[in-house]
Amino acid sequence: MFHAKADTDRDAGNHRKELVFMKNMKKMCAALLSAGLAFAAASGLTGCGSLNDGKRIVRISHAQSETHPEHLGLLKFKEYIEERLGDKYEIQIYPNELLGGAQKAIELTQTGAIDFVVAGTANLENFADVYEVFSMPYLFTSEGAYHEVMNDTDYMEAVYESTNEAGFRVLTWYNAGTRSFYAKKAIHTPDDLKGLKMRVQQSPASVNMANAFGAAASPMSFGEVYTAIQQGVIDGAENNELALTNNKHGEVAKYYSYNMHQMVPDMLIGNLKFLEGLSEEEYGIFRDAALLSTEEEMVYWDEQVEEAKAIAKDQMGVEFIDVDVQAFKDKVSTVQQDMLDENESIRDLYDHIQQVNEKYATEGES
Ligand code: GCU
Repeated sequence: MFHAKADTDRDAGNHRKELVFMKNMKKMCAALLSAGLAFAAASGLTGCGSLNDGKRIVRISHAQSETHPEHLGLLKFKEYIEERLGDKYEIQIYPNELLGGAQKAIELTQTGAIDFVVAGTANLENFADVYEVFSMPYLFTSEGAYHEVMNDTDYMEAVYESTNEAGFRVLTWYNAGTRSFYAKKAIHTPDDLKGLKMRVQQSPASVNMANAFGAAASPMSFGEVYTAIQQGVIDGAENNELALTNNKHGEVAKYYSYNMHQMVPDMLIGNLKFLEGLSEEEYGIFRDAALLSTEEEMVYWDEQVEEAKAIAKDQMGVEFIDVDVQAFKDKVSTVQQDMLDENESIRDLYDHIQQVNEKYATEGES
């Protein structure tokens, strides 16, 4: 059953209040955090990380709500570590961009003000341009290939090392589904995107991709998208289905078109000094905890995507549109080659991904 317009207005009003509340919370949290860190530093407790009852506080920032699969995966991370090293470490998880949007939170992780952040690879492009590969439209040709590439921890280690110089490194990945366009008006063909202002993640490759589709790319942080659509600053955005429900974008954008242009993973990123300061045994426990959190996240992911579709359709009145995906592919058919020509460092990973794509295509699983 669809909500009446009054319900939608009321929901939107409530969400506005929530946003104001969240903004104030973010400011307060940021202030408290820096005060806490200043105190810890002043009392010479421990580098940047502070202590509580003699335990090292390990802070993790992410952009999603507390019911999102990533938060649930991180709870597993916390549980696993605290069960084994609870006398020494206390894991604190800060959801909802409470410590700032992805870019800010990565900077905090880089300097060691916090220890971990979950962020999409688009946010890492400025630190290591190999990550641009994930912004290529239609890079993976099947979900099977995507998961196989990302679950190949040995291969991915070399990629994860690429940000060592920047002072942080990836520990594991989280599934963030398949991204498609959604907007205030229906998009059936690539022509419908012409001139539409569409929010993309804050990376040059994401901007190029949306522009190649004929849209007018508008980069901004995830937390700003709801209000920007609502106020007509942008016409829509592109993301997985959970953005409609977990982030409530379905209240303000009623058309979701399955053009499926990207599968962009999220990454759990840790401050390098912190990771290197762990004993071998401790590092093993943090790493196992990270891999376990991925397994946990992926189970919740599949469940929640199905739920999100049902909620968006039945309760928020979002229309899901099946489009001719080939027409969208054709529109951006030169982008992969252009990106390869411009950035040599994506070549190896790109070729590796193509091999896995082919394997899945010949196995008939695409
Ligand atoms: C997804 C993804 C986030 C990302 C967001 C975005 O929600 O999981 O990591 O930040 O999209 O589009 O910014």
